[in-house]
Amino acid sequence: MKTCSLVVACLTQLTLASTTVRLLLEEPRSETPLSFRVRNTHTRYADLLHEAEIIDASDSASKDARTALENQGDFGYFVSVDLGTPAQALKLHVDTGSAATWTSSKDCIRSKRCNELNGFDPSASLTFVNETQPSTITYGVGKLKGYRSRELINWGSFSVSNFTFVLADYEDQALFDQQAKMNDGLVGLTYQNGMKADTTGTNPDYYPSLILHLFSNNLIERPFFSLWLNGSTDGTTITSGGEILLGGINQRYKTGELKNYPVATIGGSYYWSLEIDAVRIMKKDSLLIQPIPGPLIGASQKSFAILDSGTSFLACPSKVFRELVVNLAIQSGLQEGDIAYNTATGLAKVDCILAQSLSPLGFTFASASSTPFTYQLFWEDYVVNDGSNCYLAIQPLDLVGIKDAASVWVLGAVFLRRVYSTYDFNGTIGLAYSSNTNKASSLPQDTLRVASKSEGQNQSGSGIGFSGIGTLLCLAAALFL
Ligand SMILES: *[C@@H]1O[C@H](CO)[C@@H](O)[C@H](O)[C@H]1NC(C)=O
Ligand SMILES: *[C@@H]1O[C@H](CO)[C@@H](O)[C@H](O)[C@H]1NC(C)=O
Ligand SMILES: *[C@@H]1O[C@H](CO)[C@@H](O)[C@H](O)[C@H]1NC(C)=O
Ligand SMILES: *[C@@H]1O[C@H](CO)[C@@H](O)[C@H](O)[C@H]1NC(C)=O
Ligand SMILES: *[C@@H]1O[C@H](CO)[C@@H](O)[C@H](O)[C@H]1NC(C)=O
Repeated sequence: MKTCSLVVACLTQLTLASTTVRLLLEEPRSETPLSFRVRNTHTRYADLLHEAEIIDASDSASKDARTALENQGDFGYFVSVDLGTPAQALKLHVDTGSAATWTSSKDCIRSKRCNELNGFDPSASLTFVNETQPSTITYGVGKLKGYRSRELINWGSFSVSNFTFVLADYEDQALFDQQAKMNDGLVGLTYQNGMKADTTGTNPDYYPSLILHLFSNNLIERPFFSLWLNGSTDGTTITSGGEILLGGINQRYKTGELKNYPVATIGGSYYWSLEIDAVRIMKKDSLLIQPIPGPLIGASQKSFAILDSGTSFLACPSKVFRELVVNLAIQSGLQEGDIAYNTATGLAKVDCILAQSLSPLGFTFASASSTPFTYQLFWEDYVVNDGSNCYLAIQPLDLVGIKDAASVWVLGAVFLRRVYSTYDFNGTIGLAYSSNTNKASSLPQDTLRVASKSEGQNQSGSGIGFSGIGTLLCLAAALFL
């Protein structure tokens, strides 16, 4: 019996057109330590990633460990992999917030019980193994059933046999609607208590991690991956939508030093989570280097943040949502009345012209080893639009079932476009500003203020594009259905 997540109703509606907000919340039950030895048989990747685990993007061999992501309208990021022998190509949602990797069977799609793009045909593969263990995966929105299976997976130039995934043969209506033939499933990359995780399959909430699988097969030297999410300037699907790098760091996509943070021990350390020191509204004229802090948000309670590439927006506990929005408005020189709340979605609507004077939001995380650093999101990062109206890309969301954590934020793609992130299964998260140069914000043309980028923003601006078809449908559905 599984403790599952509760996600406020608005999320269901927000996911109509795309894989918008997906959270998997499982309460891991047991932690059976597994010991991993670091072996000395270096492969070419290992050699490459030796030393400072730094990849030189111009090194052609290092490109092998790098995999381009497709960005679907800034809602979801997808990786193309091959499964089976001969290979069947699949497009999988990259999700740092859940554990299982899954796709559906072609049979299930054919009989209209599953709604993926292509799915997988096990009978056409020589290497397919049915583990026959039934598996149910419940997300914040949607649910699927299937059987644990094993296959050969080819990811970039990595080829790994016996990789465990779930072959789905049932999707509930919510997942069916959400999938909308836009991809073939999902690859789960969450922490699962890292190298101490029970990967033997006896705990139904844990799934063997691809990264640890690569590591134990000596294909990467460190159980480590890093993520760079590009923004789309106009909300359309772009193939140069980002990069996931297995085993290393790509210097090209980050600026400055990586700062290391320990994974917080909430919820059995299932998620890539951080302890929050402070969430603040920043003074508008603050520079990236020395931000001037404004009021603290939600300061009365110890808070945590989950880094989740499978969530599109930011989500904060509903009890701090109004505090955040009202303070943001007032600190930015707006009136409280300039913000309207959509009753169906909970989203805060703000005039597109006024939105451009919103102050930065600052996030500071707890770290014993680094001096405190505040990551700032500018209005370009956290304002989205549906073609005519602007909204804060922040949702009220109460996660339940995470042990030891009453107050949890989810930092989705809105945050991860701005911040380059690294994930070490030894229990370390690394963050540095992303080197995104993609600044354009896709606010409706007639609302764009001339020279609006005057807010001390030299470095990045992730260029949220939110006027794509998917987005339009999504927001429209969320707002008007
Ligand atoms: C996997 O095994 C289960 C249990 O025996 C069975 O019901 C299911 O049809 C099998 N799936 C495939 C694709 O072979
Ligand atoms: C895959 O796993 C099975 C069962 O554990 C094992 O018999 C087989 O040798 C493995 N194949 C490879 C290529 O490791
Ligand atoms: C990032 O996305 C933009 C489109 O929004 C594209 O022009 C650019 O080439 C991408 N950057 C990289 C490094 O792929
Ligand atoms: C874990 O890896 C990080 C780099 O990702 C390193 O800085 C840290 O020292 C390592 N910690 C342990 C306990 O090995
Ligand atoms: C922006 O860059 C210019 C030139 O590189 C520099 O002079 C200026 O101080 C920077 N401004 C901020 C806010 O970082």
